[in-house]
Amino acid sequence: MERVHSRKLHDLRRRVLRADNPEVPVVDPRDEQPTSLHFGGLEGSRLVVSASFYPSTPPMNPWLATYQLRYMATDFDVQGLGYGGRVLAFAEAELRRLGAEQIWANGRDSALGFYRASGWSIVEGSQYQSLETNLPHTVIFKRLVSDPTAA
Ligand SMILES: CC(C)(COP(=O)(O)OP(=O)(O)OC[C@H]1O[C@@H](n2cnc3c(N)ncnc32)[C@H](O)[C@@H]1OP(=O)(O)O)[C@@H](O)C(=O)NCCC(=O)NCCS
Repeated sequence: MERVHSRKLHDLRRRVLRADNPEVPVVDPRDEQPTSLHFGGLEGSRLVVSASFYPSTPPMNPWLATYQLRYMATDFDVQGLGYGGRVLAFAEAELRRLGAEQIWANGRDSALGFYRASGWSIVEGSQYQSLETNLPHTVIFKRLVSDPTAA
């Protein structure tokens, strides 16, 4: 796993997350900002997994230093082999070093099991239909620091 330039992720983002539709955008306005972090994983010389993180004011625990995850994707033929979990673990370690206290995302409902396996929680009652993809999503987050008010 490694840090990559966001341009390297466009093809994977489009194929896995936008049904390879050449018409739809696969960039986030924050992609090129120096505070954004883009991660990729290679199998041989082929990029097979991507995840991008942007500093963000989150919809939960807004006092925590937080990054938003977008464009989490593993190429179709290597899904279920651990690439997604590994890129998240690598990104989390890097984000913690930068002082991140929480990460959040609009997670596809079809991927919620993946996020749960990586220690994420869902915001109850937050399910909505994405206008961009027409797919059901739920707001999810993971605290990277312990909650001092928790029992
Ligand atoms: C969701 C996705 C990113 C997961 O990546 P992956 O590389 O296939 O996942 P991994 O192989 O690292 O799986 C890690 C864990 O999550 C579980 N998992 C993976 N996908 C899952 C799913 N869709 N539902 C339930 N559990 C899932 C695995 O069983 C594994 O569990 P384990 O650690 O207990 O063995 C990938 O399948 C994908 O790109 N899907 C299509 C695009 C998408 O939905 N992206 C997320 C947008 S929010």
